[in-house]
Amino acid sequence: MGYAIETRDLTRVFRSSAEVVALDRATIQVREGELFGVLGPNGAGKTTLIKILCTLLLPTSGKAFVGGWDVEGEPQKIREVINMVSGGEVSGYGLLTVRENLWLFSQLYGIPGGEARDRIGDLLKVVGLEARADTKVNRISSGERQKMNLCRGLVTDPKILFLDEPTLGLDVNASRAIRCYVKSWLAERPGRTILLTTHYMHEAEELCDRVAIIDRGKVLACDTPSALKRRVEGEASFRLEVALTDLGLEEMGQLPGVRWFFREDKPERGVTEMRFILEDEAVIPSIITRLVEKKVRVLHLSKTEPTLEDTFVKIVGKTI
Ligand SMILES: Nc1ncnc2c1ncn2[C@@H]1O[C@H](COP(=O)(O)OP(=O)(O)OP(=O)(O)O)[C@@H](O)[C@H]1O
Ligand SMILES: [Mg+2]
Repeated sequence: MGYAIETRDLTRVFRSSAEVVALDRATIQVREGELFGVLGPNGAGKTTLIKILCTLLLPTSGKAFVGGWDVEGEPQKIREVINMVSGGEVSGYGLLTVRENLWLFSQLYGIPGGEARDRIGDLLKVVGLEARADTKVNRISSGERQKMNLCRGLVTDPKILFLDEPTLGLDVNASRAIRCYVKSWLAERPGRTILLTTHYMHEAEELCDRVAIIDRGKVLACDTPSALKRRVEGEASFRLEVALTDLGLEEMGQLPGVRWFFREDKPERGVTEMRFILEDEAVIPSIITRLVEKKVRVLHLSKTEPTLEDTFVKIVGKTI
């Protein structure tokens, strides 16, 4: 069986003042019916990948196929079966209402009138935009606009849907609602495929059947979230909270037995949070001793289950 999406050594180089390799021989295979995640930090090449797959940008070398069609040879065929929504985009016509915008897009895709009306009504309900349906788009908030864009992507009922950071900047409830809906949308429609990019670890973990971790244009790993997590199992992962401090704590990462160390200040809670991956638990006393010597007040220590983030850190060498 062919793949819904496939790339082979896909490479894209941008030549402006300096040369940027946005995608570096990236190979992925997405099966029909999959919700496939591309997880990577800023500048990893996620949007470049989506643009090539959506036939908006040509590869420098390598191959990409969507729905079995070559992005370079048959872009027209691909455009008929896909849709794309980007979390950061400012799309839609400000002088038209939310409903009119969605109607316009549905008609550009030739969706029969009655069907389009029903779908638009359902979608607006699902994303909680019903009350805004007859408001002009230049009067709605950016989060509401983003929800409208998601509806715009779904209203054509695409066979393959690309979501570029669909929950970027949305509040917690709106993000959760969108994740839930995306998941159920796919579950109820056999044969559809979604490729989504995100730099939210929990989003990838919650939504995706498989995840490709990319950094600097390279695919570093590709597997199910649980298989990726297994790569850090057996290692002891700890979270240590201390009273907020402005001391440099880099040396904590150099202590014997510390595989990885990460520090994050949370002034709103008055704490500095440290995360450790240790060779084993016996290393903890030396960490605490060192902190006490530095007169840092230890507040809380807990052992954590390995997360996709730990895996990401192990593979990419930094957090997102
Ligand atoms: N049109 C362009 N011209 C020059 N460089 C570009 C262009 N588009 C992207 N790049 C560069 O290519 C690299 C990958 O960019 P891309 O937008 O694909 O990353 P991303 O993973 O989507 O990042 P983000 O999480 O910030 O959206 C970056 O270094 C970026 O600066
Ligand atoms: Mg991007």
